[in-house]
Amino acid sequence: MRITVVGTGYVGLVTGTCLAEIGNEVICVDVNEEKINKLRNGIPPIYEEHLEEMINNNLAKNRLKFTTSLERGVKLSDVIFIAVGTPPKSNGQIDMSQVDEVAKSIGKYINGYKVIVNKSTVPVGSANRVKNIVYLNMKDKSIEFDVVSNPEFLREGTAVFDTFNGDRIVIGSNSEKATEIMKEIYESFNIPMLITNPESAEMIKYASNAFLATKISFINEIANVCERVGADVKEVAKGMGIDKRIGNKFLNAGIGFGGACFPKDIKGLMQIGNDAGYEFKIVKKVLEVNNAQRIKPVEMLRRLFGNLNGVNVSILGLSFKPGTDDLREAPSLYVIKELQSDGANIKAYDPIAMENAKLVIGNSMTYCNDPYEAVEGSDVVVLLTEWAEFKKLDFNRVKELVNRPLIIDGRNTLDSNSLKEKGFEYFGIGLGDASVENTGPKESRIIRINQKKACVL
Ligand code: UGA
Repeated sequence: MRITVVGTGYVGLVTGTCLAEIGNEVICVDVNEEKINKLRNGIPPIYEEHLEEMINNNLAKNRLKFTTSLERGVKLSDVIFIAVGTPPKSNGQIDMSQVDEVAKSIGKYINGYKVIVNKSTVPVGSANRVKNIVYLNMKDKSIEFDVVSNPEFLREGTAVFDTFNGDRIVIGSNSEKATEIMKEIYESFNIPMLITNPESAEMIKYASNAFLATKISFINEIANVCERVGADVKEVAKGMGIDKRIGNKFLNAGIGFGGACFPKDIKGLMQIGNDAGYEFKIVKKVLEVNNAQRIKPVEMLRRLFGNLNGVNVSILGLSFKPGTDDLREAPSLYVIKELQSDGANIKAYDPIAMENAKLVIGNSMTYCNDPYEAVEGSDVVVLLTEWAEFKKLDFNRVKELVNRPLIIDGRNTLDSNSLKEKGFEYFGIGLGDASVENTGPKESRIIRINQKKACVL
């Protein structure tokens, strides 16, 4: 099948490359000439496991092409995926201008039957919106086309794996012809397909992301209570997750969710509700909980140190989650901002996101070449992203390097017992056995141990 994918962001580039991998002829279109030139040379603009080798493999087989010409993309393909950005506007509404532009151009260049696929996360009703824009811009109104909604469920960091191993493919279509073509494209993925109308497909995307985010904020609130009552949120999540109706995924408590999707899609869903005259109350709270949770390590430090002015803080992990260099809405950005406003000195290390961090955060903190350099001379080590390499650190060496062996584990990922045995003060999120309970500087603070044994340090 000849397929065009418009937009070479995470979704577009991964989708286009994976569709080429299964044997389709794919043209990826983007307005950014520099990006396209790099991609023609096999260099992806983002880090994503396996992506670079797959791009190069398919470039070599001549199945994957990159161009800035949307006209070529429209004219040469039977199916056109729209995978451009739909960022939130300052008023919370979804900015559809890029989708609209692509729809206009498709109308202008359409030269025969096409299936137009909305892959971007777009408000309910967008399939119709695209249909109208395409039609209005067509010179020859007799040309037939269909618009379907095919939301994306891949996660950053595991995007290629997710594309081939998703739980479902959702196709929102009112046309049998278009549905059959979509089924043919996805047949070899061997993933269950759900056919709905376009509106339901569009809603499935928002509802899924909002539900996952709700699970995270829920377990984070449980964690916050666990701390106060001596329960351990890891055990609680395990006990909850065994119940198949709840499921054990997305119950890792920590410093909350970030990324380009959950925060944006929650706001999008609230807006969709508002536009329809309904106030979506739960997701509003989900966001509020997350906003507080992401700066929880700073609150803990304020309680531990009293005053953070001049305190040396070492940050391990900057990206919003492991496996990606993406810093969009990363909790680290909010933690760093708060720490800086309190006058802390920050050194940071991330295995992949350093270059992006320099662009986003600038010169206001020290960037280190490895985790050991980052922890040297530190008064507290704060782990914000659960990269696997942080678990494997030589903590005896870390202890030698730091000023004070104190660790705040914002992702509950390190082995607390082994760290305590090595002489570290260790605090996770909602772990119950030792939570930062009281305010005030070191001399007067109380570490509460299982509520019963409170000891003054
Ligand atoms: C999310 C969805 O998981 C994908 O299905 C969806 O396609 C994508 O958004 C999208 O709309 O494009 P993504 O944002 O890449 O994917 O990452 P997730 O793995 O879902 O993690 C999101 C955030 O939640 C991260 O900051 C992560 O650290 C946090 N998280 C996740 C937790 O705090 N606890 C958990 O138990 C799980």
